[in-house]
Amino acid sequence: MSPVDLHGRALSNLRLSVTDRCNLRCSYCMPELDYAWLAKPLILSFEEIARVVEAFTRLGVDKLRLTGGEPLLRKDLPVLVELLAQNAAIRDLALTTNGLLLRELAAPLRRAGLHRLTVSLDTLDPQRFRALTRRDGLADVIAGLDAAAAAGFAKLKIDSVVLRGTNDDELVPLLEFARARDAELRFIEYMDVGGATNWSMEKVLTRAQMLERIREAYGPITPLEEHSSAPAERFLLSDGTVFGIIASTTQPFCSSCDRSRLTADGMWFTCLYARTGLDLRAPLRAGAGPDELAQILRERWTRRSDRGAEERLALHQREPLAEPGELRSNPHLEMHTRGG
Ligand code: GTP
Ligand code: 5AD
Ligand code: SF4
Repeated sequence: MSPVDLHGRALSNLRLSVTDRCNLRCSYCMPELDYAWLAKPLILSFEEIARVVEAFTRLGVDKLRLTGGEPLLRKDLPVLVELLAQNAAIRDLALTTNGLLLRELAAPLRRAGLHRLTVSLDTLDPQRFRALTRRDGLADVIAGLDAAAAAGFAKLKIDSVVLRGTNDDELVPLLEFARARDAELRFIEYMDVGGATNWSMEKVLTRAQMLERIREAYGPITPLEEHSSAPAERFLLSDGTVFGIIASTTQPFCSSCDRSRLTADGMWFTCLYARTGLDLRAPLRAGAGPDELAQILRERWTRRSDRGAEERLALHQREPLAEPGELRSNPHLEMHTRGG
């Protein structure tokens, strides 16, 4: 039987971070000059990952997304994908990437059995890309998107975090770019997650403001009625373009949140904003099999009451979730550790 938590939410979606490293330094995620990295010997092996994923799928998880940091930095990632693709319970095997290394890896990942890809891209201006990520790479990301389409990934998604005063003048160009590639664009509100140490409400372009600007450019917008636990609300423009908005900052989707996160070193977080996680590496390394692991997961999930984003919304004075010093002493609070 699939467990439900204290708010009646099932466990069906796992975000698996395969590395905490990243080859970009996006201002909304990794603005600091240096970071405390997870120690290599603590990183789960592919066999350990497959074993714990087997436990998750026994409890009803059928959506698995590989994340990071930047997941394509994990050595031999297609080998892991091939292993996970053998788990028939996984109906949806997806990956979120910044696209820098996708040109080389799109085809091997497709061959290994990956179903879907989401690529993060916040600007189409090379100088701005460099300012926002502190690396060059726009051309590589675009080449990566093209390689993904050529490798047969249909229904590509492009995620753009919108920062007021930085890229909020690019909503229309990004929509046009995605449409030309038959990709679905999702605009994401800037979130006050761990890692976002420069966050302030003034820098958030809200869902309502995004819709207003898009309406000015394209005319009426029709919301698509959908019943799902996905964070993105989808909309239709009169020319047939569909796009999404993920409004986790101003309109959280906690009430239907069926997702949890596993860090590369095996800590399990049942909310993006959770302060503490459950150590699954210890039982894994003590040799626990899928049944025993599933029991541990069930016990934790049935006691889950997290509503992190809603609690943040209720705060009178909203500030970054954590200070740089706190993040250095507890890197598990970082978005790049627990999976963006
Ligand atoms: P699919 O619907 O399966 O394509 O994926 P998704 O909608 O879950 O999208 P994806 O995993 O690419 O996540 C997109 C963005 O949603 C993330 O980068 C976050 O900004 C936000 N998001 C993802 N997970 C959570 C979560 O657990 N809580 C909140 N509040 N926001 C999240
Ligand atoms: N706000 C919103 N999204 C974020 N991400 C990371 N940090 C933030 C933040 N502060 C998400 C983005 C990015 C993915 C890798 O992580 O969606 O595309
Ligand atoms: Fe940017 Fe993602 Fe890397 Fe964070 S993990 S710095 S959002 S590419």
